[in-house]
Amino acid sequence: MPQNVTQKIISGHLVSGIMSAGSEIELRIDQTLTQDATGTMACLQFEALGVDRVKTDLSVSYVDHNTLQMGFRNPDDHRYLKTVAEKYGIVFSPAGTGICHQLHLENFGKPGATLVGSDSHTPTAGGLGSLAMGAGGLSVALAMAGEPYTISMPQVVRVYLEGELTGWASAKDVILHLLGMLTVKGGVGKVFEFAGPGVASLSVPERAVITNMGAELGATTSLFPSDENTREFLTRMGRPQDWTELVADEGAEYDEEIRITLNDLEPLAAKPHMPDQVVTVASLAGTKVNQVAIGSCTNSSYADLASVANLFAGKHVKFETDTLVSPGSKQVLKMLASEGLLENIIDSGARLLECSCGPCIGMGGSPVSEGVSVRTFNRNFEGRSGTKDAQVYLVSPLTAAMAALHGEFTDPASWGDAPQIPELPQTIPSIRNQFIFPPEDGSKVEVLRGPNIVPLEQFAAVDADIDANVLIVAGDNITTDHIMPAGAVITALRSNVPAISEHVFERMDASFASRAKNTANGVIVAGENYGQGSSREHAALAPRHLGVRAVVAKSFARIHRANLVNFGILPLILVDKEAYAEFMQEQKITVPALAIAAGEPVELILSSGKRVTVINDLTQKELDIIRAGGLLNYVRFSKSR
Ligand code: F3S
Repeated sequence: MPQNVTQKIISGHLVSGIMSAGSEIELRIDQTLTQDATGTMACLQFEALGVDRVKTDLSVSYVDHNTLQMGFRNPDDHRYLKTVAEKYGIVFSPAGTGICHQLHLENFGKPGATLVGSDSHTPTAGGLGSLAMGAGGLSVALAMAGEPYTISMPQVVRVYLEGELTGWASAKDVILHLLGMLTVKGGVGKVFEFAGPGVASLSVPERAVITNMGAELGATTSLFPSDENTREFLTRMGRPQDWTELVADEGAEYDEEIRITLNDLEPLAAKPHMPDQVVTVASLAGTKVNQVAIGSCTNSSYADLASVANLFAGKHVKFETDTLVSPGSKQVLKMLASEGLLENIIDSGARLLECSCGPCIGMGGSPVSEGVSVRTFNRNFEGRSGTKDAQVYLVSPLTAAMAALHGEFTDPASWGDAPQIPELPQTIPSIRNQFIFPPEDGSKVEVLRGPNIVPLEQFAAVDADIDANVLIVAGDNITTDHIMPAGAVITALRSNVPAISEHVFERMDASFASRAKNTANGVIVAGENYGQGSSREHAALAPRHLGVRAVVAKSFARIHRANLVNFGILPLILVDKEAYAEFMQEQKITVPALAIAAGEPVELILSSGKRVTVINDLTQKELDIIRAGGLLNYVRFSKSR
């Protein structure tokens, strides 16, 4: 039977289950990655599993989110991560080396490999032909311990690319076009597999831009075939041995098809405050721009920054437009330097930042109040930039550079001839000596914990129906940033669940944490696509610490739903979406937890006397995990039997 690329990788890694869309499957995982914001929790969870060494082919621990190291907490976290890596056989990438996804693409990703990462943009490695999925830290910890990773067998969408990009259109505009077409929940339960003659016109870093932001579609992942361009990229990166060809068989079948003619695309922008609010850049002409930020895991490759540097040559950005440039890795930085392009960026008046996430999560580089910030990033959720009332637009590096030079959006028709996309230099400087490779035997390594590393809490099993209070009635598209905001204070507390829990929902509802603590059990009610955005498991773990036992929503985002299960919170779906109107804050509610069966409806009893029917899409195993008080309890219990 002919197979597409997704089916080939899945069938080669299938531990259990059948490859029929929607069925639960377990996959053997070859590689894992963690980043510091989610990695401390993943490492604490890995330690709790009692395994003496990681069981994957490769696990890498990157420090890229909180490199500013304000106070002792972040450095303590980084030291903890470094010593855990040495002890358990994990490669460690210190702060400043680069952003996890760019580094992984350049140094470790492989065609045909399975990768899970505790970051939602892990699909970046799909640009190389990896099946790369974002997951909660606990799922990654289990993969590091050699446990299979469980997903629903996705539907595979063939995105058939024809023609090639012309003019000022770029890879970013391909994914913005898809987002505009499909919306932020258009990819749920799907893998986007790119195919067609247009694929050959895209380099691996361009493909990685597209697969990176496939996360914004809510997709399980996105990937490209591995072809001659992939071989060329890996060869230039000094890893020709990691290349294997991986293409769909003739006659392979797909669940759906989307066709895009690349020549038809023009520069696009996602307007505030959602990545799917896509319009043409031309339609924004005349909008003043206070800040331009170039970088992030989406658009910080050599080609991205070299094209910006070429546009900046001999020019100065507008003084009114604070312009920030953060290279994705030290390798990108070294290439810019060796090709003489760094000077263009420095001379342009742009601020050169460290190779890290930085402004993407408001870690430095926040826009001015009510400012318009034009970013090459992947998310523009309200407040994520660190400035609550900022208006953030997502664009390509070329569009961002033109906004920096003009101080406003201008019509691409006035930009003249579009530049060539720069090719990777023939000789690429290595940064292999920047990584810390673990010793063969780490048993004598002492794991160093600062006072900020608080031991994990063990949650009680579900052994009775739950009488609870409705703590909040939230709307549609609530992001993990709404639930557990990113930013300096919060990220300093990521290893300290009791402390971080004080900030749950604080930007929407300042008294949420205190109300939750004053009630034994809580329920969150929400609209569509609850928990979209990052893989941040604190958005489930911290509410669970505060006593949240169930979330009742119209629908859930994939990774967050998995995180709720992992921490013993019931994700319940309203059968009749209109019933959402029955819920009020502070209302008492009984969740018949013991009567819940996988895939079966049950009635919630409200203090108003109304009964509201909810259903779940849980497998029996997921239900058992919730009943055990979360995945860690479930695994410990299974191992002790
Ligand atoms: Fe970092 Fe932002 Fe990507 S936080 S991993 S640059 S989405």
